[in-house]
Amino acid sequence: MLKHVRGVMRRRGLELTLVEKRPVETAAFAALSADDANGAGLAVFAPNLSAPELALIESMLGEAALDVAAAIRDRDEPAHGDTGLRTSYHGIFGSAPAMQELYNLLDRVAPSDATVLIQGENGTGKELVSRALHEASERRDRKFIVTNCSAFNDNLLDSELFGHKRGAFTGAVSDKPGLFEIADGGTFFLDEIGDMSPSLQVKVLRVLQDGSFTRVGDTDMRKVDVRLICATNRDLAAMVANGQFREDLYYRIHVLTVALPPLRERREDIPLLIEHFLARHRRTRIKRLTPACAAQMLAYPWPGNVRELENEVERLVVLAGDAPSIDIDLLSPRIRQWAPSEDTPAEIDTGSLPAAVEALERRMISVAMRRHGGNKTRAAEDLKVSRRNLIRLVQKYQLE
Ligand SMILES: Nc1ncnc2c1ncn2[C@@H]1O[C@H](COP(=O)(O)OP(=O)(O)OP(=O)(O)O)[C@@H](O)[C@H]1O
Ligand SMILES: [Mg+2]
Repeated sequence: MLKHVRGVMRRRGLELTLVEKRPVETAAFAALSADDANGAGLAVFAPNLSAPELALIESMLGEAALDVAAAIRDRDEPAHGDTGLRTSYHGIFGSAPAMQELYNLLDRVAPSDATVLIQGENGTGKELVSRALHEASERRDRKFIVTNCSAFNDNLLDSELFGHKRGAFTGAVSDKPGLFEIADGGTFFLDEIGDMSPSLQVKVLRVLQDGSFTRVGDTDMRKVDVRLICATNRDLAAMVANGQFREDLYYRIHVLTVALPPLRERREDIPLLIEHFLARHRRTRIKRLTPACAAQMLAYPWPGNVRELENEVERLVVLAGDAPSIDIDLLSPRIRQWAPSEDTPAEIDTGSLPAAVEALERRMISVAMRRHGGNKTRAAEDLKVSRRNLIRLVQKYQLE
């Protein structure tokens, strides 16, 4: 959007500038933050234009300003306010204590060439973190290559990683470099390393030891300088104990491990992540969640972690179409209908009092409704609220 607007302006001989505050001169202006209409923003200085023309430009600037504001948010904030807390790190979002620890660890680990093993449940951001390590390292201007070991059979993976010589196997019609050669000087992310066969584990161990390897069907020894980052959601230590994973390779990649917290252990980051994904997947203006919808998103346990949350927000943005806000009825059924069991501990540590109150209200009503088999009169008695009030709340939270 920003590029498009800038292009339109240039064709009319106008220049788009980022300004610290609303200009006093005649100009079209759009503030970056809705909270500070006279603060930093985008401006086009055009003293010769009429008021309607300026208004037209301003509406375009409004859209471009959203882009710029999102880009600024995405940029790393080394210190957040005066608390020193960071809310993001090279595209990783979160400010929970576990994330502060992660960012501090990444600060120390990124500049080194040491192999890193990233562990975490599905969707916790393993690939994102490996990319951040590359971006925060001296290798940032070189290649970042990703391969998923579980996506290939053994022979294919061998040739994919190390390349092959012409005629090495049927179909090898010419010499081909492998991904390790392509990644030379850069960073290689080997995903699902636990799925790699023992024979390939030997080859990877060799590259880690002195950077050397041979292409499939070749005898020439080649050398590369590659920093390796590995990830797995399997228990490699147990695989070593069962003889499924080589112990020497395990120790080699296990030098530095980064364990990513599941989302349920940093629930206070859910609002921040929702904001981030609403901005990232927006097509025009950023949409808002209604309080009931936000409360249900905050209460849901997110077993699929950040990926599940991102997919849900993207889906909501699409389904909401042109509407400025997203209500609870658009949520995926599994999330809309999710109700905590009676023994679930109160997990309403969201940082926002209204959202926490709504989450608690919804939870108590849903439990009472279940306890009384959907009988509203009895559920209302139990909760010490009027029946009318209960009916209203049941509708609000879609608990029928
Ligand atoms: N902390 C985070 N901040 C912002 N986005 C995140 C974060 N963690 C994960 N994501 C997003 O969630 C999605 C899944 O992340 P990623 O692919 O890195 O997870 P993964 O651990 O590799 O998952 P899997 O185990 O399924 O391979 C991506 O779109 C990623 O950008
Ligand atoms: Mg992954």
